[in-house]
Amino acid sequence: MSATDTPAPRRVALISGASRGIGLAIAERLAAEGWHLSLGMREPALPTFADPERTHLQRYDAAAGGEVEWVAAALERFGRIDAIVANAGLMIPKTVIEAEDEDLDAMLAVNVKAPRRLAKAAFEPLAATGRGRVIVLASLSGKRVKSPTSGLYSMTKFAAVALAHGIRQCGFDRGIRATAVCPGFVGTDMARALTDRDEAAMTSAAELAGIVSMLIGLSNTASVAEFAVNCQLEESF
Ligand SMILES: NC(=O)c1ccc[n+]([C@@H]2O[C@H](COP(=O)([O-])OP(=O)(O)OC[C@H]3O[C@@H](n4cnc5c(N)ncnc54)[C@H](OP(=O)(O)O)[C@@H]3O)[C@@H](O)[C@H]2O)c1
Repeated sequence: MSATDTPAPRRVALISGASRGIGLAIAERLAAEGWHLSLGMREPALPTFADPERTHLQRYDAAAGGEVEWVAAALERFGRIDAIVANAGLMIPKTVIEAEDEDLDAMLAVNVKAPRRLAKAAFEPLAATGRGRVIVLASLSGKRVKSPTSGLYSMTKFAAVALAHGIRQCGFDRGIRATAVCPGFVGTDMARALTDRDEAAMTSAAELAGIVSMLIGLSNTASVAEFAVNCQLEESF
């Protein structure tokens, strides 16, 4: 492990969509590990587990932009950025035939364009640490199209996977490692709206948070481009 590959004593992570579901679980996990957090939320509210001294709240609507301002505010508060978790996501369960352009535009805005802008805004601070980490919450829907009503969402999540690869490619020489995390059903509001399967039969948000923590903690010589995790058997995942 080189000098720049050693985790800093104060580690700072930005998490979008941290109000509930997977983003909130990731925030809870990283907070418990001592991370300083900058939480991007449409309605900022301090989570019950969060230490106000170590938590920065940013009003952030991924559809509206504001990533440059968010990064600047987090830097002003904590002085560095070690990781970003682009988690905010939107799922509109329409087929590629029934959907209108507006449906696709809405999902592209939150699932693809906003994560790219966030990574772009945070790129230099991440590089400055020598071991910046980018997690893009993609989906198994970014690896295969499983049902008619997931097709449109899949289009955006395939793009989110490509985004993570693109960040990995342009950040690698500067110590940035990017991972597309690709879960199947995770027990959150999003999955509950899509399936009536028992929540106990889905991957838990807490377990996924543990995976994200593990990925962020890996050294620069253990780059994980994609991490697929499923609660059920499928042909390839
Ligand atoms: N749950 C699954 O089965 C599953 C599987 C694969 C991938 N994923 C992906 O994992 C990520 C998190 O999903 P989840 O299951 O936690 O979903 P969720 O329960 O529906 O929560 C979505 C989160 O994203 C936030 N969000 C949505 N639109 C936003 C916007 N325009 N600006 C800022 N925040 C916004 C929500 O904030 P508000 O509270 O303000 O609405 C909420 O915090 C998403 O990218 C999703 O596509 C989920």
